[in-house]
Amino acid sequence: MTYRFEEYAPEYKAQIAALRSRIFGGNHAFSTEYFEWKYEQNPYLGKPHFYVALHEEKVVAMRGFYGSLWQAGPRSDPLVIPIGGDLAVDLDHRRHHLASRMLIYITDHMVAKGYRFLMNLSANSSSRRLQIRSNYPRVAPYRTFQRGNPGTTLLARGYRRLERRLIGQRTTIPFRRFDRWAAKAGGSILGASEPRISEMAELVLRCGDKTRIHLIRDAAFYRWRFRNPSSHYRFIFCEDNGGLAGFLVLQSAKGGGWTTIIDWETSTAAIWNELIAAAINHNAKPLKITSTMFTETQIQSLQSLGLKPLVDPENTNIPAPGMLLHTSSGHDADGPRLGGLQLLDASSWDIRIIASDSF
Ligand SMILES: CC(C)(COP(=O)(O)OP(=O)(O)OC[C@H]1O[C@@H](n2cnc3c(N)ncnc32)[C@H](O)[C@@H]1OP(=O)(O)O)[C@@H](O)C(=O)NCCC(=O)NCCS
Repeated sequence: MTYRFEEYAPEYKAQIAALRSRIFGGNHAFSTEYFEWKYEQNPYLGKPHFYVALHEEKVVAMRGFYGSLWQAGPRSDPLVIPIGGDLAVDLDHRRHHLASRMLIYITDHMVAKGYRFLMNLSANSSSRRLQIRSNYPRVAPYRTFQRGNPGTTLLARGYRRLERRLIGQRTTIPFRRFDRWAAKAGGSILGASEPRISEMAELVLRCGDKTRIHLIRDAAFYRWRFRNPSSHYRFIFCEDNGGLAGFLVLQSAKGGGWTTIIDWETSTAAIWNELIAAAINHNAKPLKITSTMFTETQIQSLQSLGLKPLVDPENTNIPAPGMLLHTSSGHDADGPRLGGLQLLDASSWDIRIIASDSF
């Protein structure tokens, strides 16, 4: 079969939404809204960085990149890194090496545009295998701790598949238990359904670890991030003398079985503990937390609160989930560097899962 690769043009938008609905679920209106949020409204990449494969003038495969802003150490200049997402090949066109060929074409094209680094944070096992082969090595493995487990029986999985298909048509009410608690919570630990964007950004600036390569979580980032139409978000805040001393962000995907803690910042380790305990106590679904960089104190705290390390259920010979990175620039003998930090060394990075489009 012959394919032609093209960069995004508005004439493909409806077909992209249709392909997305077929592969990932959700109705046409939802898939369009998701595309607009992720690729048109992203604050870092002026216009959609998106590619399609055409067969007989029909969109049969796609791959996009949304922008993210990173800084390596406190003094280096911020750097935009495009993060890959929405890799999909239509059912009739699979196993023809279309995804592999498309990845190579797109990587070359993005490098020619001047991007030195391309990242992926959300590859499932088949996409991970493809990308690692296409020169996107896994740099930083995720560590996940969990409490409870969404059912893995055929019935439970079938129900979640149906829920995903109905995204955009059926309104589910998430976080019922959390919202009941939040409505009457008093004291220093509070629950909320809306972010406190400028206070959160200010706390990150004041308390965030800036020694590693980290995502810039400023007000512009948070403002865009929490408009993601595929997820519901809730927030737990810790107040101290009327100001914000800590926060935690909870996410639940529409049609998903987990609540995930995707971001946090606290002025002390004790506050982090209190916020995690509140997330456990006031959330009904199975809970997980993922990062590449938990401190020993955090791990002890998670385990003492009953969260256990997740054992990757996929059990394949492919490296477990994590951050994949393609680097194109010439580099030193010991590998590419940014702000003096070695890019292929996991310990150079502080990856918060809020950077990933899975959440
Ligand atoms: C994953 C996906 C994009 C692969 O597309 P594709 O065009 O069929 O992939 P390719 O033909 O280029 O496959 C390249 C290699 O990966 C293997 N492969 C592809 N899909 C696989 C799968 N689901 N499981 C195991 N191996 C797979 C192929 O066998 C091939 O290996 P080979 O070179 O040894 O023969 C496609 O299956 C898809 O759209 N899946 C649903 C959406 C999805 O999961 N996207 C990733 C989101 S993170």
